[in-house]
Amino acid sequence: MKKDIHILAIETSCDETAAAVVKNGREICSNIIFSQIDLHKLYGGVVPEIASRKHIEKINQVIEAALQEAGMTLDDLDAVGVTYGPGLVGALLVGVAEAKAIAYAKNLPLIGVHHIEGHISANYIEHPNLEPPFLCLVVSGGHTHLVCVRDYGKYDILGRTRDDAAGEAYDKVARAIGLGYPGGPKIDRIAKEGNPEAIVFPRAHIEDSPYDFSFSGVKSAVLNYINGCRMKGEAFQPADVAASFQKAVVDVLVGHSMRAVEEYKMCRFAIAGGVASNSALREGMKKACRERQIEFFHPSPVFCTDNAAMIGAAAYYEYRAGTRHGWDLNAVPNLKLGERYTERR
Ligand code: KG4
Ligand code: ZN
Repeated sequence: MKKDIHILAIETSCDETAAAVVKNGREICSNIIFSQIDLHKLYGGVVPEIASRKHIEKINQVIEAALQEAGMTLDDLDAVGVTYGPGLVGALLVGVAEAKAIAYAKNLPLIGVHHIEGHISANYIEHPNLEPPFLCLVVSGGHTHLVCVRDYGKYDILGRTRDDAAGEAYDKVARAIGLGYPGGPKIDRIAKEGNPEAIVFPRAHIEDSPYDFSFSGVKSAVLNYINGCRMKGEAFQPADVAASFQKAVVDVLVGHSMRAVEEYKMCRFAIAGGVASNSALREGMKKACRERQIEFFHPSPVFCTDNAAMIGAAAYYEYRAGTRHGWDLNAVPNLKLGERYTERR
């Protein structure tokens, strides 16, 4: 019988200090997330210096809690997986240094994981039937990528944002409406009471790059609309603005994704990343996939936003493919998907 593989996974790329124990890439033994959102709220966004400091303070407690919840000790582990990029360098360094220390002390394989590969792999956790190939739209605060997952660990990027990430646009629009940080979930909530047809905001299409995105235009259009109302002394309806903005973003995300699904003749489609928990996006994708008889996958909200379970899922497939990083593994803030860190132990 094949031996079970238990991986301790660590994620500290932005403002969540997270650790998890994952069995065979798909089974969650524990998933601990310490969110720093309340700290950063005061500043209207993530403050990198504060994020690093908080990670240092919390990382050992979070790992201890993850082992405890799994009913394990460090001696029960088979490998340590950690996000080493992309992300905030000071924040990433905390997780990478911690993972190296544990792997060194316990003589365990060390596996560096790409953060987006983690987001995509979040879909494996609750869908035992999901296997590559499939298309995945990764939409988060830092990324908007349309990815063809050819096989485990093998990715082709079909399109990406030319400017703001989808989540970034949500956060900036929410701030302009006066909803606070992080804005995505707040826009999602108030948009339910608004009219998505109230205001027509632009949908960007990039010539010659049908799968690339641009959200700075729609963001500026919303800001101009709000400023225009204020200058005229007119009140605007936050719910209508939120619903109309959301519709413009979702229309583009669904449109690009379905075009790719058709062109690449895919029968499975998944979404991932923080914005993948958006209710309008989920509904829009579900409907579009149903119409095309394509299987649609999305993680539960807790696995959409940053967490370590998704890193454990990705680390397992890297482990199986033989990926082993050396003690010189470093944080790579602008790491590209599919790019391999060449040093091997
Ligand atoms: O994946 P994530 O936790 O971090 C990054 O890797 O960036 O994503 C965070 C982003 C934030 O921009 C947040 O506003 C957005 O995901 N988000 C949402 C929702 N929940 C989180 N955006 C729209 N609707 C939501 N329900
Ligand atoms: Zn993320």
